[in-house]
Amino acid sequence: MKITPLFFLISTLAASAVDFDREIKPIFNQKCYACHAVSKGKTKGDVALDTPEELAKVIGADSHVIPGDPAKSRLLTICKLPDDDSDVMPPKGKNRLTDAELATLESWIKEGASIKAGSAPMPAAAPASAPGGVQTWTSNDGRTLQATFAGMKDGGVLLKMASNGEVFLVPLARLSPESQQQAKAAAGQ
Ligand code: HEC
Repeated sequence: MKITPLFFLISTLAASAVDFDREIKPIFNQKCYACHAVSKGKTKGDVALDTPEELAKVIGADSHVIPGDPAKSRLLTICKLPDDDSDVMPPKGKNRLTDAELATLESWIKEGASIKAGSAPMPAAAPASAPGGVQTWTSNDGRTLQATFAGMKDGGVLLKMASNGEVFLVPLARLSPESQQQAKAAAGQ
């Protein structure tokens, strides 16, 4: 197994800046909810973007948002189409996303498309302790990333990044107390 040194992880953590509730939700609210929100009874194309349950269906390897891969994420590519393309979202290019909004959306997807906010807990769909699955990890300075627990080594945690499969060795002390607990639980300690 190839293990990447920690400084790459720190740069990854540093880039994980897009917060779903603060930066993505308002875009969906203003530009998409009119047709894609269960709260408004609108789920055009079977897509709703307003509840964690619905978002969980939209985000995933074979869905509209592919975590870590903006170029293959249809939700993003259709928002970039020309106004007269029949697939463009919002339709007909009305109320379309600004370049800044598109860039924010792209970064969010690149970083793993997490809907976990800094404070709001994830719903039951993604329990914090799903062994073997992708979990959210928080560093001791509050940054988050999506990765799978891959073992303990030399007093650190091996984390496999959800976005690119790279494995990092992270000293326990770099993680928040909750994530340290999560690592110990995953290791069965
Ligand atoms: C005025 C209504 C309307 C708005 C606003 C709107 N959509 Fe849609 N959306 C639709 C309709 C209608 C469909 C179904 C289109 C189809 O199946 O051909 C759809 C389908 C989709 C799909 C599925 C596309 C596919 O190819 O399967 C996605 C993803 C999507 N919309 C994302 C968005 C996003 C993101 C926004 C906001 C930036 C948005 N939509 C805004 C009406 C809307």
